[in-house]
Amino acid sequence: MSAPVAIVTGAAAGLGAAIAERLAEDFGTLLLLDIEEAALADTAARLESLGVEVHTARCDVRREGDVKNAFDVAASIGRPAALVNGAGIGVFTPFLEITEDQWDNTFAVNTKGSFLMCREFVSRTEGPAAIVNIASIGARLGGDMLAHYGPSKAAVIEMSHSVARICATRGLRSNTVMPGLILTDMWLRTIKELRRRDAALAGISDTDVFDSFVAQMVPMGRAQTPGDIAEMVAFLLSDKARNVTGQTIAVDGGAVMT
Ligand SMILES: NC(=O)c1ccc[n+]([C@@H]2O[C@H](COP(=O)([O-])OP(=O)(O)OC[C@H]3O[C@@H](n4cnc5c(N)ncnc54)[C@H](O)[C@@H]3O)[C@@H](O)[C@H]2O)c1
Repeated sequence: MSAPVAIVTGAAAGLGAAIAERLAEDFGTLLLLDIEEAALADTAARLESLGVEVHTARCDVRREGDVKNAFDVAASIGRPAALVNGAGIGVFTPFLEITEDQWDNTFAVNTKGSFLMCREFVSRTEGPAAIVNIASIGARLGGDMLAHYGPSKAAVIEMSHSVARICATRGLRSNTVMPGLILTDMWLRTIKELRRRDAALAGISDTDVFDSFVAQMVPMGRAQTPGDIAEMVAFLLSDKARNVTGQTIAVDGGAVMT
């Protein structure tokens, strides 16, 4: 029987890279996908040094051809057994300033990208197998700066429900994780954008700006780490979660209570 392969999108940086590192404990073979090839190679080299077999492919999740190519690579190295849709974009933007291009691109990466990856995985994989889609608490907050990002992630949650139902009888599970606040490049890009709009932030460090959001939004009063998210993803992909499908779980210190 061919080796189970875990596929992670957005694996070059941030949460995707941390998830890939955690999955190296549970899977012998990883396929890491991203558009940032140099950073992806760095992540792969780091994980290879842990003794896991790592393959990479450039994959823009917005492009059907790239996604099909990635699954051809996966098929050549083993049996796709796990998929994590970590690739995503989003920068805080006031509602009236969200452009048509920004809306389209946010949905193209976050929503269409997750759909294309899930469809290909479902068409090529028999159970047992599992998908984890990375959404966001932004899907449930009605955030005043998130009218593009939040809906793009809410749609991922509902798409994941459909996949869970379609695939339930063949042992293929689909769940969604909603991360809370983690200081990655995504948040640094948002802080840069907030600075452009608000001169009062000039003397405040990036960390302090981020911490002020944490203080406002997170009942437990602390930020989440990439490791917190990776641990939940690993659980949902594991056999310990064999009866869990169609669920959406926040890892957010209580910011969204469902
Ligand atoms: N950081 C947070 O606080 C937070 C909170 C909630 C949800 N999330 C979600 O977690 C996921 C990871 O976010 P992050 O904070 O690590 O961001 P990040 O910007 O650090 O990493 C995102 C990765 O996705 C890749 N990517 C972007 N567009 C892509 C495309 N078209 N095809 C393939 N790869 C692409 C980037 O190159 C990058 O490596 C995203 O889906 C994000 O929406 C993050």
